[in-house]
Amino acid sequence: MSMKINDFKLEVFFGKHEFSAPYLLTQSDCESMSISQLLAFEAESQEEFLNGWLGYTEVPGDPELRRVIAGLYGTMGAEDIVVHAGAQEPIFNFMNVLLEPDDHVICQFPIYQSLFEVADAIGCEVSPWPIEAGEKGWRLDLAKLEALIRPDTKLIILNSPNNPTGYTLTNNEIEQIARIAARHDLYVFCDEVYKGVELDGEKRPWFADHYEKGISLGVMSKAYGLAGLRIGWLATKDRELLDKLVRMKHYTSICSSAPSEKLAVIALKHSDELLRRNVAIIEKNLKTAEDFFNRYPDLFEFIRPMAGPVAFVKMNIEKPMDDFCDELVARQGVLLLPSSIYGLDTPYFRMGFGRENFKESLDQFEQFLIENQYV
Ligand SMILES: Cc1ncc(COP(=O)(O)O)c(C=O)c1O
Repeated sequence: MSMKINDFKLEVFFGKHEFSAPYLLTQSDCESMSISQLLAFEAESQEEFLNGWLGYTEVPGDPELRRVIAGLYGTMGAEDIVVHAGAQEPIFNFMNVLLEPDDHVICQFPIYQSLFEVADAIGCEVSPWPIEAGEKGWRLDLAKLEALIRPDTKLIILNSPNNPTGYTLTNNEIEQIARIAARHDLYVFCDEVYKGVELDGEKRPWFADHYEKGISLGVMSKAYGLAGLRIGWLATKDRELLDKLVRMKHYTSICSSAPSEKLAVIALKHSDELLRRNVAIIEKNLKTAEDFFNRYPDLFEFIRPMAGPVAFVKMNIEKPMDDFCDELVARQGVLLLPSSIYGLDTPYFRMGFGRENFKESLDQFEQFLIENQYV
């Protein structure tokens, strides 16, 4: 198998700036913590962790971790879960297991690049299903989704809550998409890595709980803020698919990191506490952001995210957004992600609200705008 795949624009961009820019105003992960802070959630866990065995673990994932992950769902058991390295490995493996060259897939757009790029590299035709900016915020048109379906369509790819718009499928939309997919016998891959930090108070079901041919992607990196663990998972009731995913994992990571699996168990046993902490950080930062955007109504168009730590903000400037973001990071050390990363030439940037130092970074952004006569 030889695969030619395009550069991952976001990772190439972050590779230049993520560990050198002092003011990260675009990150999509929530504030992280140290190992000792995490272990402090359970009194006896520190000694247990230090005595943990550093051999291989089970390929589908540590049994206790799979049980705890299954507990997040309404209808899953440990046997319906395969643990992977972060969320990127399972996206790559799933697409390679399911798709054949010339399959047709439909993918929400804009979206995290690997969700369509891997399918494209396999040789599939990818049709974008747009998330549109409407009068009352972002919206999806289900009639357009159904109109995109063809006889050779195999898969619908979703990301809910969505990176970069912060749009989340409503319960009604989840149900309707499941119904449309069932009618045409399609798989639905739903990247739900931002699930758990809902800002409108409404809890949504995981997609795979709702649909037999649905696959849910979860991870510790985003809503939980534990990206360094590199622990993610796929959940589905399709046993044949799960078996193929395990066989694919034999060629990628074989098994996950044993210490990370143990730490992920502790984190997920305290899932509610961790998510509450991160929602509180996001809510506080969104308030600061809204005050900021209200000061400059002619310059920005801000749609509050329904869930997750990111928003896609329109900025009314003449200059190309790439040039603006390059100047901002070079002169002021503030990192924003331009919309070209998402394949768009409209003037948007992605802003992230999950970090403790958000206000400090936003103040630097404002200073840059003032000093350079944008406001
Ligand atoms: C929607 C989405 N899916 C998957 C990933 C990859 O997650 P991870 O870094 O845990 O592999 C990201 C990371 O930004 C993402 O935004």
